[in-house]
Amino acid sequence: MERVYTHSGMSPPSLDEPFNAQDPAEALRQEPEVLDAIRNIVAAAAQISATVCDPMRVAVNTSHAFHISSCLLAASDLNVVEILREAGPKGIDATAIAAPSNVDPGLMARILRLLATHHIFREVSPGVFANNRISSTLDKGKPSGVLFSNRADRLTGSSGVAALVEHTADIAGKSGVYLSDTLLNPTGRIPFNVAYGTEEGIFPWLQGPENHYNVSRFAVAMQGTSATEPQDMIFQGMLHSCFTGFDWGQLPPNGTLVDVGGGIGYTSLTIAKKYPHLRVVNQDLDAPTDLSKAYWKDNFPGHLDRKMVEFQVHDFFTPQPKTEPTVFLMKYILHDWPDDQAMVILKHLRAAALPNTKLVLIEKIVPFASAEDVVASATKHIPGASRPTAESPLLPNWGAATADLYLYDLTMHVLLGGVERTLEGFWDVLAHSGWRLDEVHHCPGSQLSHLVASPI
Ligand SMILES: C[S@@+](CC[C@H](N)C(=O)[O-])C[C@H]1O[C@@H](n2cnc3c(N)ncnc32)[C@H](O)[C@@H]1O
Repeated sequence: MERVYTHSGMSPPSLDEPFNAQDPAEALRQEPEVLDAIRNIVAAAAQISATVCDPMRVAVNTSHAFHISSCLLAASDLNVVEILREAGPKGIDATAIAAPSNVDPGLMARILRLLATHHIFREVSPGVFANNRISSTLDKGKPSGVLFSNRADRLTGSSGVAALVEHTADIAGKSGVYLSDTLLNPTGRIPFNVAYGTEEGIFPWLQGPENHYNVSRFAVAMQGTSATEPQDMIFQGMLHSCFTGFDWGQLPPNGTLVDVGGGIGYTSLTIAKKYPHLRVVNQDLDAPTDLSKAYWKDNFPGHLDRKMVEFQVHDFFTPQPKTEPTVFLMKYILHDWPDDQAMVILKHLRAAALPNTKLVLIEKIVPFASAEDVVASATKHIPGASRPTAESPLLPNWGAATADLYLYDLTMHVLLGGVERTLEGFWDVLAHSGWRLDEVHHCPGSQLSHLVASPI
């Protein structure tokens, strides 16, 4: 990493400075050599720490880890990042940070100190805090006064990272603590149901009028998942002479891209902006469809004016409307559902598919934490299926460098009974629903892969 930066006459971005997406030093982080180095450094640093630390202390500290999540939620909810942005690099004391939300300054300092100890925020002098590279990514981009005066709208128009952090730390955080209870007392309820005292699944629950704030926070959060990925992740590129994504440009003029469970349509809008010859059908439940119309109007009105985008309220557990699909796109959908329900969704798509329709799933594919038995794998012949593993003594999956895969897996479980699948897991649900997995593309710098399937 140092070699690449020295060669380019730059330094890697500093942990003490706010994140700046336009900084050329950020772009250099996406170079294949740097990506490889970062993965090794993160895996090695965590493994060295686990090796040398007192083991009891590691276990007990891990049992307290929920405080990191809840303090991050509190800091974001109380718009601390924006107050600190306005204060500048010298920072501001906890009394001033706590004043707009009228909370105890001593407690505010303790919350921020715990986070600063985990490299989120900086305590520049006793009781005085400033943003750093990590905290600044939660900036919602508005003056703090505006955020405090209009709570309902505080997340709209932001990058979505704060919304993602708040949604996860809030709803998954409250649910996750019930994991063990639901295993010890199996009643078929998932942790979310126990935490929120509801029999509804999270998506119907979010549609309720009392959850208007939560449903729009979730929609913005989905956009935030893209902000945590390289911008061109959705497009095809080349890495080590392999294609890294599905080639949307090969689809014919007026071809129809059906974004199933598309949310606000962030992904299909990004594709349509680059390939405006594609028609888009954005499907979702009622509330996200309304948000989607507004999102397209603000961000790509030309496609609306040309009548190249349609918004369908559609429940994907019911038969598909007639759309003449060239591609069904499902991003972050199958991971929400256990296998039996995932297969219901896939079978409805299969029934509506034309012979040449492609299915593109954009999902995380979870490796094992052990070395994989490639010979025994049902997927070994699929182009793009195999992935490199780390060199010993690192964990084969690069341990901490891929932790997000396993964290999201449990978030899917506690919220929905869902699962981040292994490649075999995808192969199984697809094959049982009438789809053949043709190819897999792994996207460098991203935990997401493109799985491309055709009707059997
Ligand atoms: C994890 S989000 C993914 C959104 C979008 N594909 C993206 O990547 O930003 C799951 C989406 O599925 C939608 N959804 C949940 N249940 C649904 C159903 N039964 N029919 C249609 N959409 C549904 C949710 O409203 C939500 O927008």
